[in-house]
Amino acid sequence: MIASTRTVAIVAAGLAGIHGAAAADSTFKLGTRDEIIASSRTLAHDLVAFYKGNQTGQIPGIVSMPPPQGDYYWDFAAQYWATLIDHWKLTGDESYNTIITQGLQWQRGQNNDYMPMNWTATIGNFDQCGWAMAALSAAENKFPDPPADGTPWLKLAENVLNTQVRRFRGEVEDGTCEGGLRWQIPMTNEGYNWKDTFSNGCYFTLAARLARFTGNETYATIATEAYDWLTKIGYIDTASYRVYEGAHTEKNCTDINKVQFSHSASIITLGTANMYNYTNASPEWKDRLSNLTTATLGFFFPEGVAVETACETRNTCTVDMITFKGLAHRWLAATTQAAPFTAEKITPVLRTSAEGAVKTCTGGTSGRACGFDWVGGKYEKPKSAGVGEQMGVLAAVESLLVGEAAGGSGSGSGSGSGAGAGGSGSGAGAGNGNEGGGKSGAARQGVGMVMAGVVMAGMYLVL
Ligand SMILES: *[C@@H]1O[C@H](CO)[C@@H](O)[C@H](O)[C@H]1NC(C)=O
Ligand SMILES: *[C@@H]1O[C@H](CO)[C@@H](O)[C@H](O)[C@H]1NC(C)=O
Ligand SMILES: *[C@@H]1O[C@H](CO)[C@@H](O)[C@H](O)[C@H]1NC(C)=O
Ligand SMILES: *[C@@H]1O[C@H](CO)[C@@H](O)[C@H](O)[C@H]1NC(C)=O
Ligand SMILES: *[C@@H]1O[C@H](CO)[C@@H](O)[C@H](O)[C@H]1NC(C)=O
Ligand SMILES: *[C@@H]1O[C@H](CO)[C@@H](O)[C@H](O)[C@H]1NC(C)=O
Repeated sequence: MIASTRTVAIVAAGLAGIHGAAAADSTFKLGTRDEIIASSRTLAHDLVAFYKGNQTGQIPGIVSMPPPQGDYYWDFAAQYWATLIDHWKLTGDESYNTIITQGLQWQRGQNNDYMPMNWTATIGNFDQCGWAMAALSAAENKFPDPPADGTPWLKLAENVLNTQVRRFRGEVEDGTCEGGLRWQIPMTNEGYNWKDTFSNGCYFTLAARLARFTGNETYATIATEAYDWLTKIGYIDTASYRVYEGAHTEKNCTDINKVQFSHSASIITLGTANMYNYTNASPEWKDRLSNLTTATLGFFFPEGVAVETACETRNTCTVDMITFKGLAHRWLAATTQAAPFTAEKITPVLRTSAEGAVKTCTGGTSGRACGFDWVGGKYEKPKSAGVGEQMGVLAAVESLLVGEAAGGSGSGSGSGSGAGAGGSGSGAGAGNGNEGGGKSGAARQGVGMVMAGVVMAGMYLVL
């Protein structure tokens, strides 16, 4: 597998040669704190250059229309804003606060639960949860409150969780896989019969972060229930602490697809760290967390640099999958804040990985656009417009600053307690406007369902 990575890198470097990429040195330095901040600022500047949502006639909050009209799905933008919130918090750069607030508020939906009418027809639980995670980052980090006609950050996150807990428990009641969220929300969407680990891992982590942040035990109960389900059903393998991809409802979730992706493993690691913190270091959560940390670092950072093992070595990563390594960096960095004992293992790995990541930033007309081959440390022509590649490297670089930042949460149930706003959007089929979604999730099934067909058993089980 290593050999094939290298081959891909060499071929890509050859093609990139028109930009002289192969010989150039990255402009991004990570030696000192000031260098990391300067690198993060430039990377963020280049990332925001892709954003058009604040221009006349454009839709605030999205990076592009979803395929087939554009390159990026709706949830991609949620990760984009969350990455920029971290950038603000870790570097103090306020340049993008206006567009962050505008984007996260514009997309909040008529019930303030991140199910806006425009995208309902293509919406998945993971999409909705991704936006809630971004709003919760704003709450946890005391990002400036939205304007008076906005919805408080915390409220948005709570509303999303409250819609999802109803869905989760509905699945328990009707016996389908004894619980768990489905990948898609509307019953008519293709993929409604798929229960993916990432949606459930995000749900778990949202609840765990809310438990830690608000101290509300209801959220801890929800998180525990989700974790128990993930292990019982075998999505988290408690023998190896590997995190698998998902299964089908018509098989009662017994046909587990064992492909592993870094965003699923790392989001569950982060949720576990928040439960460890919430329970004030309970031995049970501590063991789970140590085991997940070891397994996640071992599988996705085999030589100390992140590799999206399931697709990268064969150059088959989709535009979504390109973002996962950056998400892993952000979520593992946040893990060290909730559970400082993990820093000893995680921090050195995130550093060597970030050093690999910035070496790829020698491309494009600027000579500093970033690539995805962090192990090879070479620029290659990015997928689509390259927003995912840029976002991934920014995430890796800014995350190096967490050691020096304040603890990220537990900071009290401050903003936005008002009981008001909505959260009443029910699950399946609520609102069927679909002005922008084009085809439903069918076009999307990169991560879960298509992989189920493409990935041969055993292929990616090599540690
Ligand atoms: C959009 O936001 C960016 C980043 O904050 C800013 O540089 C740009 O001027 C804004 N454009 C408009 C039309 O407001
Ligand atoms: C929904 O689509 C309309 C028409 O393109 C657009 O004006 C509006 O801003 C969109 N709203 C959201 C939340 O995306
Ligand atoms: C805890 O959270 C639940 C769900 O959002 C809410 O109904 C309940 O009022 C909260 N409890 C307290 C004490 O705030
Ligand atoms: C579904 O699987 C669970 C174990 O995960 C089992 O307890 C249950 O009986 C199964 N239901 C059906 C209908 O097979
Ligand atoms: C999980 O971690 C604990 C110590 O933290 C260890 O005793 C146990 O063997 C681990 N389990 C696995 C499956 O690695
Ligand atoms: C919980 O998080 C806070 C803030 O990061 C940290 O200071 C504290 O040590 C954590 N608690 C535990 C048990 O690690």
